[in-house]
Amino acid sequence: MTPQLDLLICGSGVAGLSAAIRAAASPIYRGMRVGVLSKAELVQTATRWAQGGVAAVLSEDEDSTDLHMADTLRAGAGLCDRDAVRVLVEEGPGRVNELIALGAVFDRDDGGTLLLAREGGHSMPRVVHAGGAATGAEIERALVDAVRRTAAAVLEGWFALELIVEGGKCRGVRALAPDGTVNEVRAEHTLVATGGAGQLFSVTTNPSQSTGDGLAMALLAGVAVADVEFMQFHPTALHHPAMPRPLLSEALRGHGALIRDAAGERFIDELLPRDLVSRAMTARMLEQGVEHLWLDATGLESFDDRFPTIAASVRAAGLDPTTEWLPIAPAAHYLSGGIVTDLDGSTDLPGLWACGEVACTGVHGANRLASNSLLEGMVWAPRVVEAIERGKGGPDPTGAMRPLLRGTPSPGVIWASPLNVARPPFGSAGQPAADHTKLRDQLQRAMTAGAGGLRSAQSLADTEHTVVSVAAAAGPLAPPELRNLLVVAQALLTAAAAREESRGSHVRSDFPDIEPSFSHRFVLRMR
Ligand code: SIN
Repeated sequence: MTPQLDLLICGSGVAGLSAAIRAAASPIYRGMRVGVLSKAELVQTATRWAQGGVAAVLSEDEDSTDLHMADTLRAGAGLCDRDAVRVLVEEGPGRVNELIALGAVFDRDDGGTLLLAREGGHSMPRVVHAGGAATGAEIERALVDAVRRTAAAVLEGWFALELIVEGGKCRGVRALAPDGTVNEVRAEHTLVATGGAGQLFSVTTNPSQSTGDGLAMALLAGVAVADVEFMQFHPTALHHPAMPRPLLSEALRGHGALIRDAAGERFIDELLPRDLVSRAMTARMLEQGVEHLWLDATGLESFDDRFPTIAASVRAAGLDPTTEWLPIAPAAHYLSGGIVTDLDGSTDLPGLWACGEVACTGVHGANRLASNSLLEGMVWAPRVVEAIERGKGGPDPTGAMRPLLRGTPSPGVIWASPLNVARPPFGSAGQPAADHTKLRDQLQRAMTAGAGGLRSAQSLADTEHTVVSVAAAAGPLAPPELRNLLVVAQALLTAAAAREESRGSHVRSDFPDIEPSFSHRFVLRMR
């Protein structure tokens, strides 16, 4: 057992590390006793893969936080919480400046002014970026350097298996240590910042680490989650066997790259929010009976200078972006929902906090606006720490927590019985690893076929059937990542089946329109 911490942080992306740095310097606690638990090396997170950048209004010359707010609400298709969005757009610029002060280097013009890109859904150029489209890598570098300068304990290669819940309060986690033993890591407060679950799908831009671990832990502990049907599909992933799929950033379209169909025709405004672009692409691919469309970036000036990392990944795939159209298809990219929190990141389990992609703060609604995700992590992490410093003991009816605690408007609570999946501690002598790899593959393919960019009651039921049979085959000795994917798959399928409409990134062929009576989030709990 490790010593009792003030704050245990699971996850080392932008949200987790921002919280660790802020907490380790807490003037109230005179430095909290902080532990950061990371299942791989600290840098191996989805943050590192983020391309486009961070959306924030850094100069009000032409732009304004009201415009950023309006763009975020429009992208979210009626399900954003206005107060949460207001917090995001107003606190975001300060957090970006703090990150710069910490050492993150963003792209600037020759006069030293920050360069701003425009992305889908944004009415103005307001996205700061680094290394062209290597923004996440620069942010992760700066945060890892900074966290290593603090007294925070860093536990790399530790896998959080389950929440310790005693007396109705979260007291830390049970975790698998690198030596294979299961240990309790106890803390007064536990922050889940474990990122998303793109690995639910066979075609994804997410790294292999994105297996929904924090979300599954929360679900299995009976914590409320919401909006998990809203898996966002990025429209312009390179159609190529490499996995994760190389991403062709929205910023390319912001610079003038065009989407063309199989006949070479344009058919969609490339700068619409990404759910609308993905939806139009999926429809056109079905109509034309093709597996991919094209991104035409041949008209962009200085492609290699402006987007060096994208140029390198495209050239590594044997393509020349300056002379050829690039094959593209939508790929699972970002889970807009997650663990329900209030405006301070408090969940409905005292002692448990969540922020970053794993959380549902209410900011993203049914479809996240491009480049609002790193921002959300940077904004909510210090809010969590400040709430802990104030001695906050449980959630308030604010943000995504409002409908849950106030009951208005109807939150549409769905109860789901958990699959019969393995519970920790996991045995080490399970089925041969190859079997579990095959089962994970089977799950991912079924999710892509039946719960991807286009869904129906039938396709969701077929997918659930596969999930149940994969869970049965995986058995009680399933590795934790497979167990977590199964739990999150079940939650996503349950919510997607209940949402009998098409809204944001959730598209149903049997309910193609938006249904006003579903203008609220679905909250899901496991019994
Ligand atoms: C991109 O660069 O297109 C991805 C950025 C994001 O997911 O917001």
